[in-house]
Amino acid sequence: MNERELMLVKSCWQTVAPNAIPLAMKFYDDLFEAKPEYRRLFSGDMNKQAEKLMMTLGFLMANVDRVDKIKDAIHKLGALHVKFKVLPEYYPPVQKALVGAIAQFMDNQWSYEHEDAWNKLISAVGDMMIEGTTKKRFSWKFWS
Ligand code: HEM
Repeated sequence: MNERELMLVKSCWQTVAPNAIPLAMKFYDDLFEAKPEYRRLFSGDMNKQAEKLMMTLGFLMANVDRVDKIKDAIHKLGALHVKFKVLPEYYPPVQKALVGAIAQFMDNQWSYEHEDAWNKLISAVGDMMIEGTTKKRFSWKFWS
């Protein structure tokens, strides 16, 4: 991501972060409306899940200038998602609902530039999470 895209996601996050929990709840509502079949993957309390998601996004945003430094954590989160029965093809609908929810909380401050920048960031994180699942399998095959 270039400097301008980083600036856009950071300033946007400052605007929406005070509404992080309602934003996450809106994201899950929109996601389950678009993809009702994903609902069964979530067995826990959705308020807690919303908190976990937004804490993770907060951690990501605090490190957005040096994502390489938190690569291991993102890989681990990806590997954990395999246990949650999440398949790689589930990432694009999740990205769409998440970026869409952020847009709704930005109201008229939202632009196509914001949309592009967030899509770049969330798809990079998703790719890294998926990379984390294959990396594990590869090293197991390599040494066994
Ligand atoms: C940007 C990508 C994503 C991020 C940052 C993210 C973040 C998280 C976090 C922080 C947790 C909590 C993990 C824990 O309990 O330790 C979680 C759980 C979970 N996520 Fe994701 N996630 C992402 C993508 C996805 C996708 C694509 C799906 C597919 C529908 C998904 C489904 C789930 C499920 C089913 C759980 C477990 C819920 C439960 O315990 O009931 N996530 N996610």
